[in-house]
Amino acid sequence: MSVTHSYKLRVAAIRAETEDARSIVLEPEEGDAERFSYRPGQFLTINVPTDREGGAARCYSLSSSPLLREPMQVTVKRTGEGYGSNWLCDNLNVGDELEVLRPSGMFTPSSLDADLLLVAAGSGITPMMSILKSVLHGGTGRVALIYANRDEQSVIFGEELLALQGKHPDRLHTVHLLESVQGLPSMELLREHLRPYRDREMYVCGPQPYMAAVTAAAAAAGVAAERVRQEKFFSLDTDPFAEPRSALDHSGPSATVEVQLEGETQTVSCPKGERMLDAFLEAGVDAPFSCREGNCSACACFVLEGEVEMLRNEVLEPEDLADGIVLACQSVPLSDHLRVSYDE
Ligand SMILES: Cc1cc2nc3c(=O)[nH]c(=O)nc-3n(C[C@H](O)[C@H](O)[C@H](O)COP(=O)(O)OP(=O)(O)OC[C@H]3O[C@@H](n4cnc5c(N)ncnc54)[C@H](O)[C@@H]3O)c2cc1C
Ligand code: FES
Repeated sequence: MSVTHSYKLRVAAIRAETEDARSIVLEPEEGDAERFSYRPGQFLTINVPTDREGGAARCYSLSSSPLLREPMQVTVKRTGEGYGSNWLCDNLNVGDELEVLRPSGMFTPSSLDADLLLVAAGSGITPMMSILKSVLHGGTGRVALIYANRDEQSVIFGEELLALQGKHPDRLHTVHLLESVQGLPSMELLREHLRPYRDREMYVCGPQPYMAAVTAAAAAAGVAAERVRQEKFFSLDTDPFAEPRSALDHSGPSATVEVQLEGETQTVSCPKGERMLDAFLEAGVDAPFSCREGNCSACACFVLEGEVEMLRNEVLEPEDLADGIVLACQSVPLSDHLRVSYDE
C-alpha cells in the first residue's frame, strides 16, 4: 500500500541521450499539475518497482526547466550493477506509470539574474541543465559550465549545450573536460578553469572524488566556501513510500506549530521529542520529504519563530542554518510555539 503523499506520473516519452543514459518525460495526472511545480535544480523521488524488502526509492534531478514550460523530465544514467538506474533504463515503457514524491531539494539558485559557475561530471549535468536553461531563458545571469566526462560519446546533452551556446554566445560559456583527452581532471587543471569565475555562486554535482577535487580546486582558486553548493548523489537506504510509522504519542507536552505551505497556514500539535515532519504528515499537511534521514534536504523549511533542535544534518551548510533553514525530518521542537514556512 502506498502513502497518501505519493503521486502517479505517466511516462510520456523516453529518449536515449547516450549509450548508458535515458531521459524520461513524465506527465502528472489531471488535477495534480500544481503539485508538480518545481524550482530549477530540484529532484523527484521515484519508487522503482521491486520485490526487494525495503523497496528501491531513488532520487532523480529534473533536467527540464520549469520556466520553459517544457514537460517534466528526469535523466537517468546507469550505475554499474545498480538496481534502480538499470531497471529504469531497461524496463520502462511509454504509457507506464511511476509512483513519485513531489519535487523537492535546495540545489536551486537564489536568483536567475546572478552570474553562476556550474561544475558537473557525468549524470551531475541533470540539475545543471535545468538551472542553466532557466537562467538563460528567464533571467539575466551569465553561466559558465565546466563539464567532465569519460569521452565525447558519454557527454549527456552535448548537442543541446552546443545549440544553447550558439543562441547565447555572450551569456553561456561551456568547457568540456574529457578523460580521453586530458586524463582525469586534476585539482590544478580544475583550479585554472575555475579561477576566472571565482566571484560567482558555484554549483557542483558529480561523482564523489570529482566533487572533492572541485571543492579543493575552488578553495585554491579563491572561491569563498559559503558560495559553493553541492548536490550529492546517493541511493536512499530508507523507503519513503512505506506506510508511515504508528501514531505519535500526544499524551505528554507538545509544541504548537503554525506551518505555512503553498500560501496556506495550518496549526499542528507536535509532541516535544518528536520530529516536526512526522507531526505535519500525521496532521495531513502535504509537506515535502524524501530520505527522512537528514541526507537530502527535501524537507528543508524556515523556522520564522521559536527554536528547534536538529538531530542529524548531513546536507545543510552553516549559512543555511544562519538563514533559519532546518530539516523538518530531523527537527524536534524546543519552544512551546513555532512558526515554520516552506514558502520563503
Ligand atoms: C538528490 C539526488 C539527485 C539525483 N539525481 C540523479 C540524476 O539526475 N541522474 C542519475 O542518474 N542519478 C541521480 N541520482 C542518483 C540516483 O538516485 C541513484 O543513486 C543512482 O541511479 C544509482 O542507483 P542504483 O539503484 O542504480 O544503484 P544501487 O543499487 O543503489 O547501487 C549503487 C552502487 O552500488 C553498487 N552495489 C549495489 N549493490 C551492491 C552490493 N551488494 N555490493 C557491492 N556493490 C553494490 C552498484 O554496482 C552501484 O555501483 C541522484 C541522487 C540524489 C540523492
Ligand atoms: S527528507 Fe531528506 S533531509 Fe529530510
